[in-house]
Amino acid sequence: MPSTHVQIFDTTLRDGEQSPGAALNIEEKVEIARQLERLGVDIIEAGFPISSPGDFEAVRRIAAAVEAPTVCGLTRAVRGDIDVAWDALKGAKRPRIHTGLGVSDNHLQHKLRKSREQAMEMGVTAVAYAKSLGCEDIEYFTEDAGRADPDYLCRVVEAVIAAGATVINVPDTTGYATPEEYGAIFKMLLERVPNADKAVFSAHCHNDLGMATANSLAAVRNGARQVECTVNGIGERAGNTSLEEVVMAIHTRRDVFGVETGIVTTEIYKTSRLVTNLTGILVQPNKAIVGANAFAHSSGIHQDGVLKERSTYEIMDPRDVGITESKIVLSPRSGRHGVKHRLNELGYVYDSDEQFEKIYQRFLAVADRKKIVYDEDLEAIATDEARAGSAIYELIQLQVTCGDQAIPTATVKLRHENLAILMDADTGNGPVDAIYRAINRIVRVENELIEISLQSVTEGTDAQAGVTIRIRSGDDIFSGHAAHTDIIVAATKAYLNALNKLLGKSPGRQQNNSSELTTV
Ligand code: KIV
Ligand code: ZN
Repeated sequence: MPSTHVQIFDTTLRDGEQSPGAALNIEEKVEIARQLERLGVDIIEAGFPISSPGDFEAVRRIAAAVEAPTVCGLTRAVRGDIDVAWDALKGAKRPRIHTGLGVSDNHLQHKLRKSREQAMEMGVTAVAYAKSLGCEDIEYFTEDAGRADPDYLCRVVEAVIAAGATVINVPDTTGYATPEEYGAIFKMLLERVPNADKAVFSAHCHNDLGMATANSLAAVRNGARQVECTVNGIGERAGNTSLEEVVMAIHTRRDVFGVETGIVTTEIYKTSRLVTNLTGILVQPNKAIVGANAFAHSSGIHQDGVLKERSTYEIMDPRDVGITESKIVLSPRSGRHGVKHRLNELGYVYDSDEQFEKIYQRFLAVADRKKIVYDEDLEAIATDEARAGSAIYELIQLQVTCGDQAIPTATVKLRHENLAILMDADTGNGPVDAIYRAINRIVRVENELIEISLQSVTEGTDAQAGVTIRIRSGDDIFSGHAAHTDIIVAATKAYLNALNKLLGKSPGRQQNNSSELTTV
């Protein structure tokens, strides 16, 4: 009788971070990992340690920062990767190495250029090597299993379990399988692989045809007891299985699935907001569970029904996913204690008094302008400050002239992390163009603005504006996000946020580190 517990394996920080523009810095990754722990995920895939020193450090820091979840690092099936991953993971309370390689003929021929036997041998050797380092928990991924020959897949799975793999990941890497096909692969593996009872089988789906959630749930109905997913469904191309959809489907339709997860569902919305704020990847309004319209009823008939009895048109209670009516929580008269208390309730924990003081001063400035401060406002300030903490360039002063007959002109003053104060000015097609040109004269790093969007944090003309932008530099895309009661200031900070990420990824590009004051 298979267990009724389905483990939730969150790969927001690995597969999710592969979304174009999602690049997160180490502090942001640790913050998300801490929230994932509060959300109750069983496993956090924290990164791919060999891929860059930043990824290595993020995995190492997350391994030390969380207690309850298993911390996992991805590797190819080669010794060098496994050594580096183990170095990053060994400080974790529960470390897991996630290794593997392709199993479809397509991947074997075109990507790996290996015969089936050679590839199987490589996989077995990798698992045995990870085990020899002292790692007890080893997950093996059979990449592109959705398109693999079933007999070969069974042989690989049997061999790697015999070598010590404790979890078998069966990815539909290309998002090609249908729910019936994907479910049938799990049924087959559990029936045909003689040592299948020695491992947990895991679903890992991509959403190219919009079937990732349906496929993952079909796997669960056919014996999978781990689901790999990302918050808001972010990930390569069309994304990965969305954590909130799988969890709430299992929760709401217990009658169909007969299993449970350990997720604290009331933390779902907060986690979704944090990931949106830090990655800059916005959630579509009609997205299931966490979209702005997921619990909104606009037609008169529906509104009437819900007012009479909520269950007429709502199958879930929004409070179960942590969505509450926006409350007036704080005002200009609120003291430090009250603000800190509310921040803690919202899940923001600060290591230093200095960090909290910066948030409090910004809270006072917003409270002075708006008179009432909602949870969303406080959240926007807190995530903004978390970003600023690791900034290379910080905005000190901004002055803009614009209007119907005016030549849009901007003067910006920035502080470099080495404390140099830098100032420059430029004109542009509009105020934002002028500001970005002035910043570029200081920062001097090649980049192209490809998207800018504006959201309001709460309702009303006095609301804070959230600005999200994306810039391209070479083949890389970086997103930036910021919030402020002044839209122009928000747009400026969002641009600096994206530039800081760009510079953080390629430190050689931090041009302007002189201590001179540049004047126009
Ligand atoms: O989609 C996939 O196959 C993957 C593996 C590397 C686990 O992400
Ligand atoms: Zn994947």
